[in-house]
Amino acid sequence: MTAAYEYETHEYDVVVVGAGGAGLRATLGMAEKGLRTACVTKVFPTRSHTVAAQGGIAASLSNMGPDNWQWHMYDTVKGSDWLGDTDAMEYLAREAPKAVYELEHYGVPFSRTEEGKIYQRPFGGHTTEFGEGPPVQRTCAAADRTGHAILHTLYGQSLKNNAEFYIEYFALDLIMSEDGECQGVLCWKLDDGTLHLFAAKMVVLATGGYGRAYFSATSAHTCTGDGGGMVARQGLPLQDMEFVQFHPTGIYGSGCLITEGARGEGGYLTNSEGERFMERYAPTYKDLASRDVVSRCMTMEIREGRGVGAEGDHIHLHLNHLPPETLAERLPGISESARIFAGVDVNKEPIPVLPTVHYNMGGIPTNYWGEALNPTKDDPDAIVPGLMAVGEAGCASVHGANRLGSNSLIDLVVFGRAAAIKAAEVVDPSTAVPTPNPASIQKALDRFDGIRHASGATPTAELRLEMQKTMQADAAVFRTDKTLAEGVKKMEGVAAKLDDLKVTDRTMVWNSDLMESLELTNLMPNALATIVGAEARKESRGAHAHEDYADRDDKKWRVHTLASVDGNKTKLDYRPVHLDPLTKQDEGGIDLKKIAPKARVY
Ligand code: FUM
Repeated sequence: MTAAYEYETHEYDVVVVGAGGAGLRATLGMAEKGLRTACVTKVFPTRSHTVAAQGGIAASLSNMGPDNWQWHMYDTVKGSDWLGDTDAMEYLAREAPKAVYELEHYGVPFSRTEEGKIYQRPFGGHTTEFGEGPPVQRTCAAADRTGHAILHTLYGQSLKNNAEFYIEYFALDLIMSEDGECQGVLCWKLDDGTLHLFAAKMVVLATGGYGRAYFSATSAHTCTGDGGGMVARQGLPLQDMEFVQFHPTGIYGSGCLITEGARGEGGYLTNSEGERFMERYAPTYKDLASRDVVSRCMTMEIREGRGVGAEGDHIHLHLNHLPPETLAERLPGISESARIFAGVDVNKEPIPVLPTVHYNMGGIPTNYWGEALNPTKDDPDAIVPGLMAVGEAGCASVHGANRLGSNSLIDLVVFGRAAAIKAAEVVDPSTAVPTPNPASIQKALDRFDGIRHASGATPTAELRLEMQKTMQADAAVFRTDKTLAEGVKKMEGVAAKLDDLKVTDRTMVWNSDLMESLELTNLMPNALATIVGAEARKESRGAHAHEDYADRDDKKWRVHTLASVDGNKTKLDYRPVHLDPLTKQDEGGIDLKKIAPKARVY
């Protein structure tokens, strides 16, 4: 039976879904270029998860010492464990300074050096001299509230440029033409229960990550992989989903983030013997090794019986040796978080911390302009007309198998900006907005209605918890053939229970039961793609630490995973990594010998 709902139609050149850093930077850029731009967002823009980004944004400004884009690119390539696309990584490192100075000119209140330049701090995996020199101070910071500062500035600038905001609208499904072109998105307005069709020449998904597929995550509860869910339902693939980043320093218990900037300012980790154990594992960069490395070392210390606390199940982060002025000026936010969430005065005691799910390297495959891809055997870079994805929702792929800290905020603004540049080329504001495919709209309405009236026996919260616990246990920091195979089986069973979902509230206005159920249908394909992709990848690379295959296998596995999820079944395919840079060496590009694969040591 088909569901009958009324909806209001809005027409735009571009509709951006999501108002975090990437969504706002894309919205601002598109509005500046004269495109009629709408930004649809399920939370108020300045409550988007970017607001929680603490430590900073990477760009080789050289304000605190020598630096250049080639060193930044090298660190990003090495950080990605040689899975990132070379063209995208070059674009990121080269464009980063420009993107940060633009932010400065838009009004972001960066912290300052004595001479009034943007303050930069060290972050894990960021080095000098192609990994041969000391750590570099590359991470531009606004104290430890950098995301907050960026988000508020971009929202103000977007309003100034007449972008139109639709706030607390939940995106239900993409509307696609018969021949696979994206024509818009159907949304549900949460505060009055009305439905809205946004018809557009370009849809930009900037919906963030899916950290909430796990039990303990630094991500906001809103990080439910809505873009990935919508894409999967159109039969389009997700890329490299097996690579899930654990941040070394989530507060033990709450999972609340303590920025890597804390170690950048001189903080260090100790085990139950009071030992600074990172010196043993990463003699050169120690506590400032790359995140995946530090998270694994912490886990090994705990496993080997050197964890702290009554149950020996976490690690200590010391800031108590730092001058109180540094803590007050550079790290005020995390000093407060430590007090509230761990009951710790950072001036006196160490913070109890544990590796916590923080970031998804995988996402909707795109090129470095943000255009979404639907790879085929003949054309692994085939684009989906009318669809873009940016920020954590997308996979350009600039982070490969592991992202460096502070490369996320720069990814948001560089690729949000790139999407705007490309949209201005491909979207003609003088043409009419195409009429969206009625069959696709009806399909979206039917799905919404089906979930609204779901009358099975499994409550949403119960099924979500089952998914989160399975992912936490079986797609963890360390993985084995056994845990992954068991995890795939369990997750297929969990996903099948979506057919037995029980939604109790059938109303349309502020129905959080229905909204959480819709979010769960988005989390599920993201989670499945993650664990099935992980089970298939028989090597260790970046955040995918496989105990049965301890080494990286470039011959077989230097490829991107593509996962297509249909119900509780996942089909895998692979596409080549881009090995060519944007610029040849004799035209000012990087020396490719410098970024050739080698052992990844810090
Ligand atoms: O540690 C942090 O401040 C987080 C930064 C990031 O994920 O890039």
